[in-house]
Amino acid sequence: MFVKRLALTNFRNYSTLDAEFSPGVNVFYGDNGQGKTNIIEAVFYCAIGRSFRYSKDNDLIKTGTDQFRISAELGGDITENIAVSFKENGEKAARVNGLYLRKLGHLMGSLLSVIFSPEDLDIVNEGPSVRRKMLDIVISQLHPSHYFDLQQYNKTLAQKNFLLRDYGRTGASGDSADALLDVYNEQLAAFGASIAEKRARFCAELERLAAEKNGQISGGEELTMKYVPNFRAAAIDAPETAEAKDIDPAEFQNAIKSEFLELLSARKSREIERQHSLYGPQNDDVQIELNGMELRRFGSQGQKRTAVLSIKLAQIMLLHRKTGRSPVLLLDDVFSELDEKRSEMLLDSVAGCQTFITTASLGELPGSVKRDAKIFFVKSGEIQLI
Ligand SMILES: Nc1ncnc2c1ncn2[C@@H]1O[C@H](COP(=O)(O)OP(=O)(O)OP(=O)(O)O)[C@@H](O)[C@H]1O
Ligand SMILES: [Mg+2]
Repeated sequence: MFVKRLALTNFRNYSTLDAEFSPGVNVFYGDNGQGKTNIIEAVFYCAIGRSFRYSKDNDLIKTGTDQFRISAELGGDITENIAVSFKENGEKAARVNGLYLRKLGHLMGSLLSVIFSPEDLDIVNEGPSVRRKMLDIVISQLHPSHYFDLQQYNKTLAQKNFLLRDYGRTGASGDSADALLDVYNEQLAAFGASIAEKRARFCAELERLAAEKNGQISGGEELTMKYVPNFRAAAIDAPETAEAKDIDPAEFQNAIKSEFLELLSARKSREIERQHSLYGPQNDDVQIELNGMELRRFGSQGQKRTAVLSIKLAQIMLLHRKTGRSPVLLLDDVFSELDEKRSEMLLDSVAGCQTFITTASLGELPGSVKRDAKIFFVKSGEIQLI
């Protein structure tokens, strides 16, 4: 699968753009602040329906205009047209092959993509939400139902928090409020179990692949990545190995659901007292360790970079393995940070995938990348093929 053509209207610093890409490597080079990352951001937006940066949709609209539009024509094993638009009043619409999608989540899985950017180090250095987001993006690309589970879960969680605040404010309790809380807890346990089960399972699969890559690059250091559900102190033992293959995901999910529901019931009065939900996958984390020590606290810069690169390479392998399709790779400014060995590992994975690379200097790209690449010069929101 590859992005054959990309058209932008009023997206970031692009008034209009209409470009055709190579199914192989595409390089965007130019000075800082010219619009290289914006192109990668637009491509990834078609994959997940939002920005990969910490930006709001409104920030993506070109200043002085009131809506943006991105459309991508896919070629290869899949021919599809994806179009997404966003208006400043908050209206977001997506179409695939001209058909309007009633829910944005249905966009997931059309364009498979993995992005590499300098911010990837946040996976190790920042809080749990970054790690949950990393898992959720990969899983949603593979199973759009995960995206909907998250949506339902978050909606119910907001309702429950509203009720808990109300409880505290008015002292209003009574049977009906109590019964409603039980209903919310039941729903949260059902969606939450599905979310936690998928995250734990994919985390275990990613761990296996990432540990292998990390071992190869580092010469044998041992990377582990455990999903830690907040409603259980120890990591969920996801069915990961050959002998655990026969564990039925539904059975595993049911076990998590009962455990979660039990905890929500047992700690109900505590949540009422705090006026806020305290337990659930909204607080889960992935514990990343190197040689048995927490990477965030004890790892060196190089060890962190290697681990993050390995995790990303594992995502490519997982998407490919599960779908039989090669994801589109977006490499935003990554080669300046990698030494030769790590660049090579990355380039091995690039083979066979359409790749977009941004760089401020063509000189820092390995020669083998440039040889067959389509190279674009980017300046002030315009691109020019050279
Ligand atoms: N909503 C917007 N409207 C207009 N221009 C915008 C908007 N958002 C960002 N920009 C502009 O886009 C440019 C940044 O684009 P981008 O992040 O793609 O740069 P880059 O070429 O990747 O630079 P670097 O090499 O520094 O990473 C900036 O000049 C910024 O002012
Ligand atoms: Mg950039």
